[in-house]
Amino acid sequence: MRHHDLVFLKRFSLVIAALFGVMVVLILLGLFLNSRKPIEPNPIAEARTAERIRPLGAVYAGETGAAAAAAAAAAAAQAAAAGGAPYGGTLDGAVIYQNLCSACHATGAGGAPAPTAAAWAPRIAKGLETLMKHAIEGYQGESGIMPARGGNARLTDEQVRASVEYMVKKYQ
Ligand code: HEC
Repeated sequence: MRHHDLVFLKRFSLVIAALFGVMVVLILLGLFLNSRKPIEPNPIAEARTAERIRPLGAVYAGETGAAAAAAAAAAAAQAAAAGGAPYGGTLDGAVIYQNLCSACHATGAGGAPAPTAAAWAPRIAKGLETLMKHAIEGYQGESGIMPARGGNARLTDEQVRASVEYMVKKYQ
């Protein structure tokens, strides 16, 4: 009986040892196969990394650079058009007049009509739409040159209209 147990134990330990060996081999095989597998990049992590290591001030060079610079300029122009109108984009004709038009129109400098009702009456007689058009596109009259948009090309049509309306009311 005792001998029997001994034999069983011996064989059983052999089986255990063999299974242990198989386990070690499988682990090593797994490690080996895993090390040969190409690392798959995670697109989200890559995008985050690219964003983190992106240069602060982009430098455009060469031909592709020129295209990138043009694209950046177009984007900037669009941003300016969206919210970059001068004087905070105000449509208050008085503010625009004070900051821009008055340089000539408050005194009549450079041939601008004098700031009087008498000087403005013949202008107003041309009709508001004509005055708007001349203020937006610029106008060369007998007395001088009215620069387009008062010389500030970034002024929107609405802003020029507001300042013309203000001036016409002021001097009529
Ligand atoms: C650099 C000087 C200057 C500035 C700045 C200026 N103007 Fe003038 N403007 C003139 C002169 C000069 C004339 C007269 C041109 C003429 O009839 O010979 C004129 C004429 C006008 C007229 C009359 C046009 C017509 O058909 O008779 C209007 C309207 C006008 N300006 C609006 C404006 C507005 C609005 C602004 C500001 C956004 C402005 N101007 C800024 C010089 C200026």
